[in-house]
Amino acid sequence: MKRLYNDINLASRNSFGVSESARCIVEFDSAEDLKEIFSAERPEKWYVLGAGNNTLFTQYYDGVIFTPTCSSLTVLSDDGEGANIRVEAAYDWDSLVEWSVKQGLWGIENLSAIPSSVGAAPVQNIGAYGAEVKDAITVVEYFDTNKLEVVRLTNEDCRFAYRESIFKQELRGVAIILAIEMHLSRTPHPNLGYGDVIKEVEARGGATLENIREAICAIRGRKLPDPKVLGNAGSFFKNPIVEREVAERLLAEYPDMPSYAVPNDDNHVKLAAGWLIDKSGLKGYRSGAVGVHQNQALVLVNYGGATGGEVIALAKYVSQCVNDKFGVEITPEVNLL
Ligand code: EPU
Repeated sequence: MKRLYNDINLASRNSFGVSESARCIVEFDSAEDLKEIFSAERPEKWYVLGAGNNTLFTQYYDGVIFTPTCSSLTVLSDDGEGANIRVEAAYDWDSLVEWSVKQGLWGIENLSAIPSSVGAAPVQNIGAYGAEVKDAITVVEYFDTNKLEVVRLTNEDCRFAYRESIFKQELRGVAIILAIEMHLSRTPHPNLGYGDVIKEVEARGGATLENIREAICAIRGRKLPDPKVLGNAGSFFKNPIVEREVAERLLAEYPDMPSYAVPNDDNHVKLAAGWLIDKSGLKGYRSGAVGVHQNQALVLVNYGGATGGEVIALAKYVSQCVNDKFGVEITPEVNLL
């Protein structure tokens, strides 16, 4: 069943808490709903909004916003060693992680406490603490708004990469994600190599699923502002991937600069945008209602009443300062509308 709302304020539907409106919102719970709409009249301009944790509205949205409401979780098979599950788009991501931990299923525990809906998770291949959702996804099922049919893509066909997938590229403006399928394992696979994770897990008595989830929630809680308290969309920028020579030049000047290998690519190196912003002197910087978070420079925050335009102006200022100091371009991770 679908529900339609006209001229809706989006303040409660985006974690930045900016108060822009949209011409129309359609809440849908099946592919049939979408088929009905797209076969009657294809909207000229449209966008899919999940829980609104990675989107910044910078102005009135003169189009149709589709939001899924389907939220079932089905265990497709479970042979004792692992399970295949199917989860619909509107299911809350962290509730899924909590469920998997309770079931003794390994694979997504490092992705605890990421604010997201399940449908949004594959779009930017959400990742944290050495894990990415692509490592567990087997299938993504979407409604193809051109073909007017449901399509199932295998993991490989999704072309996942760092904060990337086919849904941000060729299928942007085509696909509306309905559900994902995942394989989760009962064989313990602790992934503790990132930052303070191992220390926090050991302080809780060792690498159980519960301890890892608790440790990750604690680390996130210390660094990342709760969007219910302070409007934000997590990392505003992607960590930039630069030519090896650029990284080497910077490392010669700043030997303490964090840098990470890019899988299967020796010519490029990933840098930490948070560190670059911090070293540009902007951590805790504030301009009116917007600012750079004091505990994690990668996060821009709305202190209350900010417009999307103010956030964009701050983002431009931050990337300009980083470019001036390091000669590195940082680009938004958040979807700008
Ligand atoms: N750093 C600073 N100052 C800062 C922030 C970071 O010096 O203000 C340094 C840290 O000390 C560390 C390095 O930069 O050496 C990396 O920082 P951190 O481990 O906090 O992670 P990140 O690269 O800033 C990424 C993800 C986060 C994810 C964390 C943990 C991106 C764009 N961000 O942040 O994802 O939670 O790793 O895995 O890849 C998100 O996407 O919304 C998000 C929060």
